[in-house]
Amino acid sequence: MKTAVLALSASLFAQGAYSWGAMGHATVGYIAQNYLDGAGKIFTSHLLGGASLASVASWADSYRYTDAGKFSASLHYIDAHDEVPHKCSVKLDRDCGEEGCIVTAIANYTDRALNDNLTLSERTDAVKFIIHFLGDITQPLHTENLDVGGNEISVFWGNGTAKTNLHAAWDRSIPETLAGGSDDATAAKFAKGIIADLDTGIYKDLKEDWTSCGSIKRGTGCPKAWAQDANKLVCSDVLPDGPDAVEGKDLSGDYYTKAAPIARQQLAKGGYRLGLWLNKIAKAEQLKCRD
Ligand SMILES: *[C@@H]1O[C@H](CO)[C@@H](O)[C@H](O)[C@H]1NC(C)=O
Ligand SMILES: *[C@@H]1O[C@H](CO)[C@@H](O)[C@H](O)[C@H]1NC(C)=O
Ligand SMILES: *[C@@H]1O[C@H](CO)[C@@H](O)[C@H](O)[C@H]1NC(C)=O
Ligand SMILES: [Zn+2]
Repeated sequence: MKTAVLALSASLFAQGAYSWGAMGHATVGYIAQNYLDGAGKIFTSHLLGGASLASVASWADSYRYTDAGKFSASLHYIDAHDEVPHKCSVKLDRDCGEEGCIVTAIANYTDRALNDNLTLSERTDAVKFIIHFLGDITQPLHTENLDVGGNEISVFWGNGTAKTNLHAAWDRSIPETLAGGSDDATAAKFAKGIIADLDTGIYKDLKEDWTSCGSIKRGTGCPKAWAQDANKLVCSDVLPDGPDAVEGKDLSGDYYTKAAPIARQQLAKGGYRLGLWLNKIAKAEQLKCRD
């Protein structure tokens, strides 16, 4: 099992890294699906044509390679120009380029999901972007400019044999090693354990804090708070001793042991937030119909 994970990861690294891998995004989808209320289920099922959140969670990662979707590549992250590891920070005017970033994208697609002037297919895309970006925004290195979000920090994974980079290690190696695979069934099982922890376990008392910013009407307010929340972890947990401390090192040992619970918690946050966010959008849609 372990060798299969490593081989798959190595082949995917070559494509460049923009996201939690498909396993991580599906995990976020399965978690969110569990927290949809009645309105949330009706709304997402209508816009996704009955598809599950998990099944569309990585759509944005293939879309960005198409001609029509090229514009969206910069929307998967925000490049915080901060001072790792001394002082982490996200500032919209400094860090979000003209082409947009994950913070403005979440605000934009939240509005578009509710905009009756758009076609059904435009609103479907908006929901699929939301499902993906609420996952990406919890990956700490999607909120960091240093060394292209860690893409240029070379590291090894697994006995010093598989060469990769820090960004990809967080996207895939860490969560996939923890979950024990990279396929959809693994994601479903991984999500089940996380949901149990959200309901009655280690995340039970943390989760209200993760959704304390919950108004879909605040524009970039909530996505900016979420970006700041993930960005703080770059200083505290991803690169606590700066890039030189990990460059060229094998991260599958002690580094992994410390990083794995952080990565799992970030996926939990992403999934729980996404479920509640979609419920809020669905509620706003219902209220609109009553006017
Ligand atoms: C919102 O999304 C649409 C569709 O992808 C895009 O054309 C538009 O430029 C975006 N607007 C902003 C402000 O990001
Ligand atoms: C939809 O279009 C109408 C007519 O052009 C406009 O008045 C309205 O503001 C638009 N609604 C949104 C949410 O963009
Ligand atoms: C790591 O390398 C050592 C020495 O080559 C080998 O004995 C060991 O089995 C390897 N461990 C793994 C997990 O591949
Ligand atoms: Zn992405």
